[in-house]
Amino acid sequence: MKTTFSVIKADVGSIGGHTKPSTLMLQTLRDAVRSACSGQKKILIDGLVTHTGDDIALLMSHEHGVGAALVHRFAWDCFLAAAEIASKHGLYGAGQDLLVDAPSGNIRGAGPGVAEIEFERDPASKERPAEAILVFAADKSSPGAFNYPLYSVFCDPMHNGGLLLNPKLHRGFTLTIIDMDHKEDDRLIRLDVPERAWDAAALLQNPDRFAVEAIHSRYKPDEQVVSVSATRLHNIAGKYTGKDDPVAVVRTQGIFPAPEEVVEPYLLGHFIAGDCRGSHVMPIMPVAINTAVAGPYCLPLVSCLALSMDARGCFSQEFVDIFGDCTWDHTRIKVQQKADEWRRQGFIGPTMASHAELAYTGIVDTLAALDKEFFIREATPQPRKVPRSSGSTTTSPSTPRRSAR
Ligand code: 13P
Ligand code: MG
Ligand code: MG
Repeated sequence: MKTTFSVIKADVGSIGGHTKPSTLMLQTLRDAVRSACSGQKKILIDGLVTHTGDDIALLMSHEHGVGAALVHRFAWDCFLAAAEIASKHGLYGAGQDLLVDAPSGNIRGAGPGVAEIEFERDPASKERPAEAILVFAADKSSPGAFNYPLYSVFCDPMHNGGLLLNPKLHRGFTLTIIDMDHKEDDRLIRLDVPERAWDAAALLQNPDRFAVEAIHSRYKPDEQVVSVSATRLHNIAGKYTGKDDPVAVVRTQGIFPAPEEVVEPYLLGHFIAGDCRGSHVMPIMPVAINTAVAGPYCLPLVSCLALSMDARGCFSQEFVDIFGDCTWDHTRIKVQQKADEWRRQGFIGPTMASHAELAYTGIVDTLAALDKEFFIREATPQPRKVPRSSGSTTTSPSTPRRSAR
């Protein structure tokens, strides 16, 4: 049976600033998901509602395929209902990520982040008798936030020994990378790694512009292992509307990396653009699911939920909150210290986001006004070139002559 796992997330309002959605909003969506699983329309097989910071994630399994209007419409209606509650209770940023009035079918590009993979659920399958999945949700983060961890896991055996140990992983992967500066149609490139790993690196170096959107196995090219929501809100809205806050789905085990390999890069607390006003560079902190944003400069956060799916497409009754484990406490402290140190530099240079990102903030108006106050100082006249009697020229009497060797 073909099953689709869809994660759709949006920020539709939060308590006392960009912190977390209210319990009532979450409960309303949990009720909606429950009835979508049992209703006549059979919209969903199973569903789960979580939040990371102020973003609500709908985790859904169903039989309608990737980009299915029925499922996307359901998610949109859920977010509309939660936005209404947020608005009624005076919460901040009600409906923030719902950027169009009424999306036609697929809501990709309408504001919410979408990561989906369709696969065969067959307990008799040789390769995938079981289905293990990780869901990463990042808040206060740019959509290139997953470039570093995904490159590390799928291209670098220094981070993922499985690339050496498992012959199926050793065959490599195909990375689909999207050019997020391109508007209207999608501009993509497909690179087979490890052969093209340095080409992938050359693109992923710039997470403001390029992001991994999908990864497929080369051992089984039909099998998609990763899906990332890599869109930029300001490209849709034309102005700064909040951070893009991506989600990623990663299938694990068997022909794919193991979960313990996939989460290893998060030990670093890599620097990304995001956090306060989406305008700074800060290290990303792994946190438990359902964590509120409460820190200074609101550090970028990432949660990771591990679940299994049975042959019918139902989720395991329980899940594992990977970054909620005490193993990650040390990383959290390290990342906070790293952030404190880094923020001492204030706004100068690389501590703020690049000008490509800041182009959507108010600094543009200030710079445009200041531009008019600039004046030109005439260049100091250069010393005249005096012809030498030998035919060669010399620039100035004060120019030191090279000593003969
Ligand atoms: P969100 O995109 O998570 O709403 O954050 C916006 C922001 O600017 C926080 O300072
Ligand atoms: Mg918000
Ligand atoms: Mg957010």
